[in-house]
Amino acid sequence: MVSAAQVAVEVDGLSKRYGTLEAVRSVSFAVERGEVFALLGPNGAGKTTTVEILEGFRSRDAGTVSVLGHDPSGRPRALRERLGIVLQELAVEPNLTVREVLTRNAGYYPSPRPVDEVIALVGLEGKASSRIARLSGGQQRRLDVGLGIIGRPELIFLDEPTTGFDPSARRGAWDLVRALQEGGTTIILTTHYMDEAEALADRVAVIARGQIVALGPPSSIGGRDVSEATIRFRMPPGVAASDLPVPARAIGEFAELTSADEIESLHRLTGWALERALPLTGLTVERLTLEDVYLRLTAGSDGAGSIGAPTEQLSASVGGRR
Ligand SMILES: Nc1ncnc2c1ncn2[C@@H]1O[C@H](COP(=O)(O)OP(=O)(O)O)[C@@H](O)[C@H]1O
Ligand SMILES: [Mg+2]
Repeated sequence: MVSAAQVAVEVDGLSKRYGTLEAVRSVSFAVERGEVFALLGPNGAGKTTTVEILEGFRSRDAGTVSVLGHDPSGRPRALRERLGIVLQELAVEPNLTVREVLTRNAGYYPSPRPVDEVIALVGLEGKASSRIARLSGGQQRRLDVGLGIIGRPELIFLDEPTTGFDPSARRGAWDLVRALQEGGTTIILTTHYMDEAEALADRVAVIARGQIVALGPPSSIGGRDVSEATIRFRMPPGVAASDLPVPARAIGEFAELTSADEIESLHRLTGWALERALPLTGLTVERLTLEDVYLRLTAGSDGAGSIGAPTEQLSASVGGRR
């Protein structure tokens, strides 16, 4: 258990209803200072509702919430000054320039970052004098992030920070998140991109239908680290699956097996191959990917349903990546 001074955010039993829809159902988690924490889930899972309650923009129906030691409801000024917020949809005056809007917002904070530093951090050097209306979607999103960090926040909320970004802008945003973390900023981000959660987050909460269905470091969430391993290799020439010393199946040119004890399986397999001087080309050992875990955990909820990943297909897809 971490001490109160190390906790940036604590949420306990948080619930939110819109009419009859239970958008957030008894969600609990804590975020440590300096941590990058991701809420990962399909559209409609309740991510934005959760973070907007933490930001003080939405009310809650039940539960307790502490953000940097404050209850965020009512948006107390003492808290507001210490938060950076990047909403999923941000409306800024289209006729102001990038520099104008950043300069204006810098004035709202006691010790803002220099405007030029922020422009460089978000990669808008060439656009400082451009009107917001003339920016591309990705550039507007980078400006949103710039507005989120201008006040030198201790805690920043990034709601879908890279949606609509091209791959290079995405990498830029990831580098920025890492730079902010190195500078000591606590970051809570929402995303429906598994690779983004995996690349950035110290811990991930998978949220589906308003509930956290798994929580932990990306490397072990959902039991990934203790799941069965899938061993895969190209079938040696002239060998059939029934010749192998392990119960493998042939999948095209490859042989594949799942094993709860991969050291033993590999020992038998490699010993057998060495004795016969047979190659095991392309040998890989993999556990569940974050995507496998995510699709399994969110199966049946709206967003995951549209991806179309019936549970039966998961075992066949395990190990087929990377
Ligand atoms: N202001 C609102 N009024 C009614 N329903 C809402 C409102 N905001 C969100 N919802 C619904 O609540 C659910 C969760 O939405 P949201 O928190 O935006 O999810 P996410 O950010 O994960 O996509 C969705 O079904 C959404 O349609
Ligand atoms: Mg959202």
